[in-house]
Amino acid sequence: MRDGLHGLGYLLADNAFRNEATMTPRTPVTDQNPTAPRPASSSSTAAGPGVIPEFAPAPGGEQLRYAVVGTGHRAGMYIGAITGEHADVATLVALLDTNPGRMAHYESVVSEELGRPASLPTYAPDGLEKMIAEQSVDVVVVTAPDHAHAELVARALAAGADVVVEKPLTIDRPGCRRITGAVRETGRDVVMTFNYRYAPRNSSLRQVIASGQIGEVTSVHFEWALDTVHGADYFRRWHRDKRNSGGLLVHKSSHHFDLVNWWLGDVPSRVYARGALRFYGDRNAADRGLGARPARGTGVVGDPFTLDLNDDPRLKSLYLDAEQHDGYLRDQDVFGPGITIEDNMALLVDYRRGATLTYSLNAHSPWEGYRVTVNGTAGRAELEVVERGAIELDEDGNALLDPSATPTYVGDALRPEGERLLVQRHWERATEVAIPDGIGGHGGGDAILLKDVFRRHLRVSADELGRPAGYLDGLRAVAVGIAANQSLVTGLPVTIADLDLGVSLEDAR
Ligand SMILES: NC(=O)c1ccc[n+]([C@@H]2O[C@H](COP(=O)([O-])OP(=O)(O)OC[C@H]3O[C@@H](n4cnc5c(N)ncnc54)[C@H](O)[C@@H]3O)[C@@H](O)[C@H]2O)c1
Repeated sequence: MRDGLHGLGYLLADNAFRNEATMTPRTPVTDQNPTAPRPASSSSTAAGPGVIPEFAPAPGGEQLRYAVVGTGHRAGMYIGAITGEHADVATLVALLDTNPGRMAHYESVVSEELGRPASLPTYAPDGLEKMIAEQSVDVVVVTAPDHAHAELVARALAAGADVVVEKPLTIDRPGCRRITGAVRETGRDVVMTFNYRYAPRNSSLRQVIASGQIGEVTSVHFEWALDTVHGADYFRRWHRDKRNSGGLLVHKSSHHFDLVNWWLGDVPSRVYARGALRFYGDRNAADRGLGARPARGTGVVGDPFTLDLNDDPRLKSLYLDAEQHDGYLRDQDVFGPGITIEDNMALLVDYRRGATLTYSLNAHSPWEGYRVTVNGTAGRAELEVVERGAIELDEDGNALLDPSATPTYVGDALRPEGERLLVQRHWERATEVAIPDGIGGHGGGDAILLKDVFRRHLRVSADELGRPAGYLDGLRAVAVGIAANQSLVTGLPVTIADLDLGVSLEDAR
């Protein structure tokens, strides 16, 4: 580990940006998120009992026809599921994107898997309705950037398809009204893919609260820390502009607000927020004495805040090789100009039944994970999760995303990766609740979610944990972030009902 990580001055060293040709290649970076599924080098686990829903066998020959809209990073998970584990119930019939290069990437990925040309029909966004009609699409999977969700969801519903949409449902009030209007008019189905619900530790906390062990919930304290690899990644591309992502309070925290809504089985009613961009961005960098920096990370070595797209064949194919079509830069400098989102955020949220949430999100932490404390009338529950205990640097000063993949890795004794759920009732000692394994380690939510997305018509029984989510859950989650964004502007608390999002969140539960 390199010394002197306390300030940013080391980034200015003369040799900080060296020629990549002389350096050891970095570890491939398939995903900056430590919870994301890792390659086989990482520990993988089997699923614990009760975590995987039971499904009836698929009747032969009945496949729903799926189109994937927005063929970037996240689309890969759905395309892999449709053409792989769930190919008996789903078939991929078309791709849609603004960028032909990224659609060509998936054409070649699927062709390789099939062992023959997939010949997937491709469309541009103005051809969404034509695609649904020509390819008899049953379900559109929306994995486009957040700002495009509302239009794509509403148009797909109106054109006669059901929708599976990635979080966040949308980023602002007009988007909420557009989606709620389209659902009302068409009566069609919208599945929200809240994968965090499916991480067994989060399910276990829901079980603890629902069991009544800690009584009626009076308050929740929830702190989420994103580290300087995963957190920084939101400051490199479209998320950095609030008009695209709604900021992290919408883009990222909608996961967390959904968890609280779902843990409590309650509806948020009022939000007060404070926050600002205090670490990333050109002004903060200048205030801390950072000099001129390269505008993008590709080709830069020795700077742990950069991302080199040449280091990962998938990132290179999806973004670097596709830049010529639309100029989308995946690797912009996190200390460059043009960032309009916050990196430090704090919220107070009132819930309808009386509980209060105190929430904070930091996007430049040295470790990644979260801590949740749930206070109740009979005791408290505490969930602590370390997703990445530290960011290790290689000998060139580049961040190692998965140090456990290196043979010499021994882990961090003080902050080991892991999770712990404690319950302590009044007048009793704390007890630890065993958290079942997920699929594939690292939180294990995605693979279970995908089963529910593609096989839910085959479920043997309803989910006891209430994990499947629809557009109303998506709305309740983004409502907190949208209200928080308004509060950041006005400095005042915002009553969610006053936002008039198209349906009453109060009545909908
Ligand atoms: N649940 C999770 O853990 C998780 C993880 C990652 C991403 N996501 C979500 O998935 C979505 C996509 O994120 P990503 O990281 O894959 O982004 P990305 O930039 O890698 O991919 C987005 C794709 O959409 C395309 N696109 C842009 N405008 C479009 C439009 N109007 N119509 C159709 N396609 C358009 C882009 O060209 C690109 O190919 C986001 O909403 C994000 O919040 C969720």
